[in-house]
Amino acid sequence: MTFNAASAVAHPNIALAKYWGKRDGAGNYPAVPSLSVTLDGMATRTTLRFDERLSEDRFILGNELLIGRPLERLSRLVDEVRLAAGLTTRVSVVSANDFPTASGLASSASGFAALALAAVTAADLAWTPEQVSNLARRASASAARSVFGGFARLAAGPIGSDGSVALAAEPVAGPDAMPMKVVVCVTHEGSKSVASTDGMLRTMASSPYYERWLSYAVENEAALHKALLSGNFQEVGELAEASALAMHATALACGVSYFNGATLEALKQLRLLRDAGLAVYGTIDAGPHVKVLVRPDQEPIVTPKLRAIAGVVRTIVTTPGGAPSVERLKKPS
Ligand code: PMV
Repeated sequence: MTFNAASAVAHPNIALAKYWGKRDGAGNYPAVPSLSVTLDGMATRTTLRFDERLSEDRFILGNELLIGRPLERLSRLVDEVRLAAGLTTRVSVVSANDFPTASGLASSASGFAALALAAVTAADLAWTPEQVSNLARRASASAARSVFGGFARLAAGPIGSDGSVALAAEPVAGPDAMPMKVVVCVTHEGSKSVASTDGMLRTMASSPYYERWLSYAVENEAALHKALLSGNFQEVGELAEASALAMHATALACGVSYFNGATLEALKQLRLLRDAGLAVYGTIDAGPHVKVLVRPDQEPIVTPKLRAIAGVVRTIVTTPGGAPSVERLKKPS
């Protein structure tokens, strides 16, 4: 029996310029471009093994054996690898996050990036990072960016494609391009209320602001990209906060709400800290947590203030991080 197994570690990424919304039709293409920073200090570790004894795929996430829709989504990704490698063998996968899962902390980004990398490596496919990124994107668009370290961009998808056009993220700057810390303010330990894809579909169908968001997001991403390359931290921070607020306003306008009380308290605290002269900016994904961008020298002043906010359960201090890693596993002797 052949032993095809690999273990990958990938990090979540936080979109500074957010995507929200998909292109119509197949392929899971984002409707707008996005630009993210990959974070050290949080990780998903995934070990995958093709196992000829199995009659169906088996996924354990944390301590939970997955069934139903989550299992199908993971199996679909592995199906593409099986097709490319000419395999029919089922897989056994064990994956764990060292941070809360499915809560808006980008666990799907690191999770699908780690799964794509582990599956491609275990199947002995000599794929480029772009091919792995395209594979991860089809499962979760944000995961395309976690295949790269530092700052990564994912373009908007093609219009009217049948899903066959490749779309990968591209690295735009290394982790040291802009010195910053990202302080994650965890405001809730459970799962998020609306999965990001469901929230996007509802926004596309019924937000009165969706059309405006589509043009705004393009302008915001272009300006943020330029500010990043010119090293302007304040502008990057302002544009990142503006992107998150515009995204959430668009979703909120049709009843898709991710904020809780602590999210609003944290945003208020950031405004007060800015009034006091500190360069701190918040961003929020499809969950209630606030991720705070801060200059490294100001982080020790800012983090205790964030931890003191009513409703902030804990904080995780992260830095722009590296690319994922993967290792082909040898059969245990
Ligand atoms: O691609 P998904 O399903 O992980 O959705 C990502 C949505 C946001 O995190 C809010 C935005 C983004 O660009 O990552």
